[in-house]
Amino acid sequence: MELCYSGEHMETKKRLLSGVKPTGRPHIGNYLGAMRQFVDLAKSHESFVFIADYHALNTIHDAQQMRQNTIDLILDYLAIGLDPREVILFKQSDLAEHTELCWIFNTFTTMPYLMRAHAYKDAQAKNKELNVGTFDYPMLMAADILLYEPDIVPVGADQKQHVEYARDTAEKFNALYGSTFKLPEPHIPKEIAIIPGVDGQKMSKSYNNTIPLFADDDVIRKATMSIVTDSLGVEEPKDPEKCNIFALHKHFSKDTLSDIEKRYREGGIGYKESKETLADNILKFVTPMRDLRSELSKEKGMIEKVLREGREKAHAVASAKMQEVKKKIGVLV
Ligand code: ADP
Ligand code: TRP
Repeated sequence: MELCYSGEHMETKKRLLSGVKPTGRPHIGNYLGAMRQFVDLAKSHESFVFIADYHALNTIHDAQQMRQNTIDLILDYLAIGLDPREVILFKQSDLAEHTELCWIFNTFTTMPYLMRAHAYKDAQAKNKELNVGTFDYPMLMAADILLYEPDIVPVGADQKQHVEYARDTAEKFNALYGSTFKLPEPHIPKEIAIIPGVDGQKMSKSYNNTIPLFADDDVIRKATMSIVTDSLGVEEPKDPEKCNIFALHKHFSKDTLSDIEKRYREGGIGYKESKETLADNILKFVTPMRDLRSELSKEKGMIEKVLREGREKAHAVASAKMQEVKKKIGVLV
């Protein structure tokens, strides 16, 4: 049994929290690495899933684009099977507690500590005129997490350090003011830690190597057919573990995986056939979710309702925690 510092949530289900930035259309790496876990884990966890729009604001300064991305992301969440009656779905900017707690963390977090973050170093290498929000990204994320005292934080492997920063920040706060925050754990299933893109690097919106999740058939097919391979001929034996196509078969061709693997090892399957089979299987998987998404997008007022109700439930937890924090730091007189 985990310790409950506040004594406010004694339910038997463990708590999950995660967020995704509304920065563009999701790809199968986002889906397998992060989004799908929410659906799988929602059955056994009390789940808080949010749209990290203030994190996205570091890179998106176009209001129309922000609005559209946010609507798209909610539809994506609902279409992959998150049920708003079971999962608390909300928007970060709807709860002032996130930025408020971030500020409090800023007051005891040092600049050298933030300068050691991988994400900061990468961003700094690309752009010398980095904004303060990007520099402070881990503290807003620490606030996102710690407000809700989750047991697990499902994220892709690239977010592990951010969860560790949240953990450090909880420890620092607890050392300064006494036990207040529970230490969070990242949840990163090994086999899906990093989904490769069509060029074999990590699939990422920033590398232009994605297979989009909700695109039309021809877009998904075209992206799949562009997966980079070596030049072994049809009959030559191939090592499946070195093949970018096979890496995706592991997720989309589970029923026939051993057969595909055998044909790789013995020779007799060409990369073209392998890609076509993969594209068929991705489409088989994606089509029902894509159809549901299109139906949901026609429901007037639904998104507003989901967000309003999600906000209310999230607020009950976040505001209670914030009261506790304010008492601890001495700003409530
Ligand atoms: P991108 O790199 O495409 O911009 P994000 O940084 O928005 O993706 O990531 C959103 C979530 O999806 C994060 O939890 C991240 O770890 C996960 N994720 C992104 N790309 C991959 C990938 N190739 N494999 C596994 N998980 C991924
Ligand atoms: N940084 C995460 C990403 O890039 C998004 C995020 C923001 C998040 N706050 C969070 C994830 C809190 C988990 C928990 O994907």
